[in-house]
Amino acid sequence: MPPEKAEVFKSLESWASHWVLPLLKPVDNCWQPNEFLPDPSQSSDDFTDEVRALRDRTAALPDEYFVVLVGDLITEDALPTYQTMINTLDGVRDETGASPSPWAVWTRAWTAEENRHGDLLRTYLYLSGRVDMLMVERTVQYLIGAGMNPGTENNPYLGFVYTSFQERATFISHGNTARLAKESDDPVLARICGTIASDEKRHENAYSRIVEKLLEVDSTCAMLAIADMMRKKITMPAHLMYDGRDPLLFEHFSAVAQRLGVYTAEDYADILEFLIGRWRLEKLEGLTGEGKCAQDFVCRLPPRIRKLQERADERARMLEPRSAKFSWIFNKELTL
Ligand SMILES: [Fe+2]
Ligand SMILES: [Fe+2]
Repeated sequence: MPPEKAEVFKSLESWASHWVLPLLKPVDNCWQPNEFLPDPSQSSDDFTDEVRALRDRTAALPDEYFVVLVGDLITEDALPTYQTMINTLDGVRDETGASPSPWAVWTRAWTAEENRHGDLLRTYLYLSGRVDMLMVERTVQYLIGAGMNPGTENNPYLGFVYTSFQERATFISHGNTARLAKESDDPVLARICGTIASDEKRHENAYSRIVEKLLEVDSTCAMLAIADMMRKKITMPAHLMYDGRDPLLFEHFSAVAQRLGVYTAEDYADILEFLIGRWRLEKLEGLTGEGKCAQDFVCRLPPRIRKLQERADERARMLEPRSAKFSWIFNKELTL
């Protein structure tokens, strides 16, 4: 990012204190993982009864569901990577580790809120007995070690477009795992995934509010950033996942998520369409010529993505059905 652009973020500090920080929840009003889990402070008998009930509830959920939920957990658990990524962004990074700038305050508190997601999913999955925790834990360690490259180039314009998109993507996928748990008679797991989804929604709101403000104060630069991220395609945060066995693990996990309808290629186009509407990109005025080209490219993109996807689906239908073994569910083989 050109150094003078850092001024934009400096000048937005009081705006961020008024319009972004209130989207955080005070710690004492936040849910905690413990509230959704068997209470270990009761007698051993009562505790084991609750664990047994949990295992009975999850018994009807298919293995495909656990692959998707493990993928979601692993994505959440690589949180150190995401905090690092946000702290690569010029003008908004946490300069000391405890900086009082509203950008840094947001990032730390956002991380602290997000940290509950992985904790809760991991403990629930552990108690269910349905997944190979050793392989899950190994995958998390590999993933944090591998990091991610979202193509945001230290540029907060790009960074906040990426996070707006990603928070909405996680809102959609946790919402869908909630729906599937409800349909399969696990109301507790449905409540867990739904509660996480509502955090993601609040975070999406914060990040897309920042981009909305950037479109107001620096429209061409913000519009170019949206086009740049869409040209690069939004990579999923866990795209480098590996369990030490399957080099195509992310692709295989994504195929299962697509098949279960938890996160699909259609969702990608829907998210873009939603953000175009949320940011009123079609009506954006005052752009330079280059900005107008970017606007045109982005606003015409959703139907193009859909058409490409239809063609890819057609091609996939002609192929033999594929399958893959997942170490997370004790090497069981699933159709992709
Ligand atoms: Fe999350
Ligand atoms: Fe999130």
